[in-house]
Amino acid sequence: MPDVMRLGALQLRSNLFLSPLAGYTNLPFRLTLRELGGLDLATTDLVNARSLLERRPKALKLIETCPADQPLAVQLFGAVPEEMRDAALYLESRGIAAVDINMGCPVRKVCRVGGGSAMMSELERTARLVKIMVDALKIPVTAKMRLGWDDQQLSAPDLARALEGAGVAAVFVHGRTREQGFGGTVSLAGIRAVVRAVAGIPVIGNGDVTTPAAAQHMIEATGCAGVSIGRGAFYNPWIFRQTEHVLRTGEELPEPTFEERVRVMVRHLDRMIEVFGEELGCRMFRKVAPWYARRFGPASLFNQRVVALSSRAQFQELLRDYRDWRRPFLDEDGRLRARYAPSPMVASFMRDETAATPAIAVPKGPVEWW
Ligand SMILES: Cc1cc2nc3c(=O)[nH]c(=O)nc-3n(C[C@H](O)[C@H](O)[C@H](O)COP(=O)(O)O)c2cc1C
Repeated sequence: MPDVMRLGALQLRSNLFLSPLAGYTNLPFRLTLRELGGLDLATTDLVNARSLLERRPKALKLIETCPADQPLAVQLFGAVPEEMRDAALYLESRGIAAVDINMGCPVRKVCRVGGGSAMMSELERTARLVKIMVDALKIPVTAKMRLGWDDQQLSAPDLARALEGAGVAAVFVHGRTREQGFGGTVSLAGIRAVVRAVAGIPVIGNGDVTTPAAAQHMIEATGCAGVSIGRGAFYNPWIFRQTEHVLRTGEELPEPTFEERVRVMVRHLDRMIEVFGEELGCRMFRKVAPWYARRFGPASLFNQRVVALSSRAQFQELLRDYRDWRRPFLDEDGRLRARYAPSPMVASFMRDETAATPAIAVPKGPVEWW
């Protein structure tokens, strides 16, 4: 892929980004996505700056990476400028390509310490924090925010402008307010207002992008320089490659086959086991595998059994049994019969209000707070 955009001095070969998803955007997931193509700068889950400075094992595990996982951004949260700066300097010394600051997290424990969404109401303090980081670092600093606290306080345009003044290289905007949580519709007008507010830095749109068409529409309707994808990558790890292709050629790639989905899922589990060990890797994969299964067609047997996953051998056995169980849903050529096909994904901002299309699910776990 040729260079298509820049974050400060960092040249990127894709304007498609992976959004931070706490509990999911770990090394195995990132490598799985990268191998499928279309993605360049990926990010970690959010990491507490102080924990990183204290070299807590959990924080160090979150920033675990390898040469194939480049370029990598780490998302930091925290409100003490010196801690944020020193944590970022440590990341720079470890070869991390960019540092992202969490400014949109509605989790109470983050807001309580003055990080996350609370930052948006305190423009000056936030801009100062960012400037201290930017002045100390060679790598780009970016910020991720929501549109504001609620409909009455859409502070993102002002915040983005202030942060640009403080030297951020880009802003990522989830087109919802904190009050909205994950409900309602992503506001393209809200993202567009942020694009208009800044003088020159790239604004990356985010929220509900689950198809290449949604990415293309978000870019066209808002003027954003790129799109960041979170849950859409769970449903469809191929989304970056497919979207990159659509943006470049205007044509859609064919959907991956069932066998390709299974191949990638197995590879993902193998990497989970490499990075987290067999027991923990399998346990963590229990909540990942059902996302793959959402595109398998009928999958109740798979979903019932995967919740007890505890070894690689057990997964192989499960797959054998699932293939047998799935056979009645296939035609003579081994393809899923059309009436069992999962319904197409539709982004909130592309939905026909009259159609009963389900909203994109929010995973449970630590996650229910996002
Ligand atoms: C499971 C989960 C974990 C998340 N963790 C983070 C996080 O660590 N930092 C952050 O800034 N946003 C986090 N978010 C928000 C996403 O990065 C993203 O802004 C949001 O999900 C909207 O994009 P999407 O519709 O493409 O998923 C999380 C969202 C989910 C669903």
